Amino acid sequence: MNKHIGILTAGGDSPGLNAAIRGIGKSAIHSNRMDVIGFRDGFRGLMENRIMRLDLQVLSSILTLGGTILGTSRDKPHKMPVGAETVDMTDVICDNYYRNNLDVLICLGGGGTQKNAYRLAQRGLNILTLPKTIDNDVANTDVTFGFHTAMEIATEAIDRLHSTAHSHHRIIVVEVMGHNAGWLALGAGIASGADVILIPEIPFDTVEIAKAIRQRQQRGNNFSIVVVAEGALSKMDHIELVKLKELKLKAKEEKDSKLKKTVTEELKKFSVLHRTNTLRLSQELEEMTGLESRLTILGHLQRGGTPSAADRVLATRLGSACIQYIEEGVSGAMIAVKGQGTAAVPLEEVVGKRSLVPLDHSWLLSARRVGTCLGD
Ligand code: F6P
Repeated sequence: MNKHIGILTAGGDSPGLNAAIRGIGKSAIHSNRMDVIGFRDGFRGLMENRIMRLDLQVLSSILTLGGTILGTSRDKPHKMPVGAETVDMTDVICDNYYRNNLDVLICLGGGGTQKNAYRLAQRGLNILTLPKTIDNDVANTDVTFGFHTAMEIATEAIDRLHSTAHSHHRIIVVEVMGHNAGWLALGAGIASGADVILIPEIPFDTVEIAKAIRQRQQRGNNFSIVVVAEGALSKMDHIELVKLKELKLKAKEEKDSKLKKTVTEELKKFSVLHRTNTLRLSQELEEMTGLESRLTILGHLQRGGTPSAADRVLATRLGSACIQYIEEGVSGAMIAVKGQGTAAVPLEEVVGKRSLVPLDHSWLLSARRVGTCLGD
């Protein structure tokens, strides 16, 4: 009897999503024992039962497309925005899974999606996930698809900024994505020969950065490229954030609603201020070094457009591997990259964790060895 497979893409889009959808869909169809439908716009589409049939005609010619043909959203099954409220729609989602006679639902997403998918698995649905995000911060996989493309895009952009920084004798601060993990900033920074790389894992000291830029000036280099992950924090801000997070935990443990309210407001203020983090850094560096400084925020450019060849291969590998795992009866797992192969990692070993840059990682050591300032 044919197995019925459902696919959805959730969270921020990532190059390679369509390649993965194609990998799953074509492998399923070629197995002659499975058919595939997609749900539009993440978990919202599953809740609203908005379906797209994924036949060979739909699946051909999507390999090279950016974005996701299914659409995506950040909506969570248990906190679904409905009008002005958020409602737990898990029961409706489970009903639609059964209504479509699904044998397996495959959720393609980052850390948040893994968590939401795990909740559905705990409700008894057969779930598989794939790890996608340009941040490369999903735990227990060597890499996520989308990361390689984003690193290429950011590298090319920084290369271009290099020549203008050099011509104008300026500092250019480049903000790249990555709230929690510095993989993208570090990878693109190393590849483009950035002079300073700041990542969330290493709180920075602006005085040290200015010192490194001045040393370059003394050597006759009157320009510098400073690559900053959007989540990088100064040492002082880092201390403040750790303090607020500890207070949040305390308020939760002691069920102190007054403290909870105060901390929530402080955390909100902190994140509003953090939005101008890179602009403040750029201005401070200008004052401290006497060099003009400009800020470039690469933003969503890093997620858009056609996936790199490496991401197309990776997404095809993972997508097609899913079908093999389904045939073996695996569920409740993320299909992870392990070297040249794949592994089914139980979702409980993925959720609530993040892959951050280890402080002894070879990329960090290499950056230090070639004289890159890491802000510490
Ligand atoms: O999906 C990950 C990510 O690209 C992060 O790097 C970034 O901080 C965030 O998404 C941006 O989210 P949004 O597209 O919802 O603004």
